[in-house]
Amino acid sequence: MRYIVSLLTICLCLIWNQPLSAASAKANIKGTAEVSGISGVASFEDTTQGLHISVEIHGAPEGIHGFHIHEFGDTSNSGKAAGGHYNPDQHDHGDVVKDGFETAHAGDLGNIEIDADGNGKLHLTVPHLFVTGNAYSVAGRAVILHEKPDDFGQPTGNAGSRIGAGTIVITGN
Ligand code: CU
Ligand code: ZN
Repeated sequence: MRYIVSLLTICLCLIWNQPLSAASAKANIKGTAEVSGISGVASFEDTTQGLHISVEIHGAPEGIHGFHIHEFGDTSNSGKAAGGHYNPDQHDHGDVVKDGFETAHAGDLGNIEIDADGNGKLHLTVPHLFVTGNAYSVAGRAVILHEKPDDFGQPTGNAGSRIGAGTIVITGN
């Protein structure tokens, strides 16, 4: 009996340690200008709380910069080919973490602050979003770093041109 209980415990632990959906993705961010020192990585991982997004930027101008998920993965034409903010439900622009999924574009990640050395970090968990295989999937889209702050005005936050961009690609299922 004791043996069976131990065996069951081991089996259950193995099952519980496997998240049902733990896909991961990443975007290698590069400057959109021909000569640009901007680089970075955005990592995405499904968690039970939502999509965990971890961003690191280097070589960017000091200050506050809008940072969003845009609809398409094509980062050509200075990032313009990525289209508008990822907005599957036709909401107004906002901040998806602070305002909630129902009152912002799904891709409205807010701002990233770049320090005097050109570095910045952002860590967010966005409920309702997934890496892949869902109506609200981010794989195959793009992250965009903007020239100016997102002031959360309509329709897209007045964040100016697209100085950095990266396509979100699946890295694990
Ligand atoms: Cu944007
Ligand atoms: Zn938006």
